[in-house]
Amino acid sequence: MITGKTKIIGLFGNPVGHSLSPAMHNAAFNYEKMDYVYVPFNVKPEYLKEATQGAFALNIRGYNVTIPHKTRIIDYLPEVDPTAALIGAVNTVKIQDGVSKGYNTDGIGAIKAIEEITPISNKKVIILGAGGASRAVSFQLLSSYEVELLILNRTPEKAFELKSDLESNLKTTLSTGGFELLLEEIESADILINTTPRGMHPHEDDEPFLKARDIPSHVVVNDLVYNPLETGLIKEATKAGATTISGLKMLLYQGVEAFKIWTGQEPPVDIMEKALYDFL
Ligand code: ATR
Repeated sequence: MITGKTKIIGLFGNPVGHSLSPAMHNAAFNYEKMDYVYVPFNVKPEYLKEATQGAFALNIRGYNVTIPHKTRIIDYLPEVDPTAALIGAVNTVKIQDGVSKGYNTDGIGAIKAIEEITPISNKKVIILGAGGASRAVSFQLLSSYEVELLILNRTPEKAFELKSDLESNLKTTLSTGGFELLLEEIESADILINTTPRGMHPHEDDEPFLKARDIPSHVVVNDLVYNPLETGLIKEATKAGATTISGLKMLLYQGVEAFKIWTGQEPPVDIMEKALYDFL
């Protein structure tokens, strides 16, 4: 029951109608009998500043931030966690002691999903794409681990820009290129992460990046796309006998990390995961 003591967690996005986060977080709050509620707010871009101030004024305890606000919200937050600042995007805000502080749990989410399946240290990782999601994953990956990283993108120049940013901020080195390198590089890779929308609904019939015959069975394949749950790439990887990780796991673990930031408690991960599958 919602009372005067109930703590409110929000979601700022536009649109928010299809978000899976309310189902996931409310299931966790209910299961733990925590007096919290997660409420989506459709925030138009022109009202983002007011929404940020409004959340603060209304004593909302925190919120998630999604498309199209993840980058611009940084301008309205007095404090931003250093990794989120490097990524240049915030997906989680905590309001505490009179301060709104921004975090990014997208990259951690992807990494937790992979850690669950395989160790990451000293592995060769190929990331497909060089947009916002790739940025979150690559910054988090290189901040947390020693890895051999190769970023491939449709527009190789954009991958190179990301490389320059990563190398100058994290004192690390990595390689980049176009997708034509994938076929050869996958042979020696351990982990492949797709951060592009290729194969995402309604483009399920997009040509997958690789066919089963070209995917070595030792490679762990993670597609961040979760709609459909089984993308063309995941289907090919399964056919090849490779271990696969669905995009739903990143969604789950970014939520797990946000939950910890807001409440200081460990969430019931299984309950959150079940809520995601039930919702889909
Ligand atoms: P996000 O925040 O989801 O990462 P983004 O910042 O718009 O979204 O980045 C999308 C990434 O997917 C880009 O790397 C884009 O490639 P370009 O830099 O060449 O535009 C890539 N991308 C988008 N559609 C793609 C497709 N059909 N096949 C391959 N790559 C695609």
